[in-house]
Amino acid sequence: MKQKILITGGAGYIGSHTCVELYHVGYIPIIVDNLCNTSIDNIKGIEKIISCKIKWYNINCCDINAMEKIFEVEKIIAVIHFAAFKSVEESVVNPEKYFTNNLKSLEFVLDCMFKYDVSNIIFSSSCTLYGTPENLPVNENEKFKTAESPYGETKQLGEKLLENADNNSISLRYFNPIGSHSSSLIGDCSADKPANLVPIITETAIGKRHEITIYGDDYNTYDGTAVRDYIHVEDLAIAHVSATRYIIKNSGKHAFNVGTGKGTSVLEAIKSFEKTNNIILNYKIGERRKGDIEKIYADPKFIKDKLGWEAKKTLDDAMKSAWEWERNKK
Ligand SMILES: NC(=O)c1ccc[n+]([C@@H]2O[C@H](COP(=O)([O-])OP(=O)(O)OC[C@H]3O[C@@H](n4cnc5c(N)ncnc54)[C@H](O)[C@@H]3O)[C@@H](O)[C@H]2O)c1
Repeated sequence: MKQKILITGGAGYIGSHTCVELYHVGYIPIIVDNLCNTSIDNIKGIEKIISCKIKWYNINCCDINAMEKIFEVEKIIAVIHFAAFKSVEESVVNPEKYFTNNLKSLEFVLDCMFKYDVSNIIFSSSCTLYGTPENLPVNENEKFKTAESPYGETKQLGEKLLENADNNSISLRYFNPIGSHSSSLIGDCSADKPANLVPIITETAIGKRHEITIYGDDYNTYDGTAVRDYIHVEDLAIAHVSATRYIIKNSGKHAFNVGTGKGTSVLEAIKSFEKTNNIILNYKIGERRKGDIEKIYADPKFIKDKLGWEAKKTLDDAMKSAWEWERNKK
């Protein structure tokens, strides 16, 4: 009998890729998503990729009565909780929106799990938890700094909620997800104005933007530009499959970094895009941006040891798929 996994935010960027990977290894993903920050095209895209219909509840996770009905009807073995708002910038302007949606949705999911005896939850956390880490590569034992934004605070509080809940839980601390599915049928449909490098690169390449501004070239890094750990979204989706398999068989509470372990500078990322797609990009050097940290990249050893997962795709793979997605976007 196939096991059902409830995927909140399953129509979003990372959730849609995860639904596809879970389906391919024999789970039944069931989506809860009110499309507040995505498009129905991602649901259609999932169905095209897996060649069958997917169950989708168009419901707000903060509607406890509607959520309870899902738990009553479906026999769920685990929940993967993606549903949240994700714009760091917006969270600074409108923190209430972030605390309400990101924390209430998690609390209600946990309430439903308790009531309907579902033990296993995987939570979308973020490397923003670490702030500016003292040690690099950063591992899971690094002390959290004061969060630099209300968004980051919702991830710290989310992990805390899970620590105190009566569930098995895995917090996956994503580094910088980029790229799209190889089919170009699913991707990031969020309404957030891109502040991340790769959407800015692809929008510049297609002509929606005139140029890329590189925020600072005087950091203490090998070429002076900021360093991040870019993880292909298909690899990230597979990390959720590994986490799902693990949590169904093992009890306890865990947190894992999900990154490649490789630091990539902004300039290196731009060069990778140019080389892979044979496109020359306009870029200029600007001032450092407030809130940006100099460098962060993961120590991915713990997740490899425990879950047997490691990133397989290259930066060039991600840049190729990101460009395909931009070109095919409606
Ligand atoms: N993309 C990143 O760079 C990144 C990095 C670290 C962590 N994360 C986290 O990963 C998760 C998924 O991120 P994403 O990039 O796929 O974002 P996304 O916005 O594409 O996906 C989130 C989905 O959740 C849905 N949603 C939000 N609130 C909801 C609610 N109350 N009820 C029902 N549906 C709701 C949205 O419609 C959207 O489809 C989020 O929790 C995010 O904070 C993302």
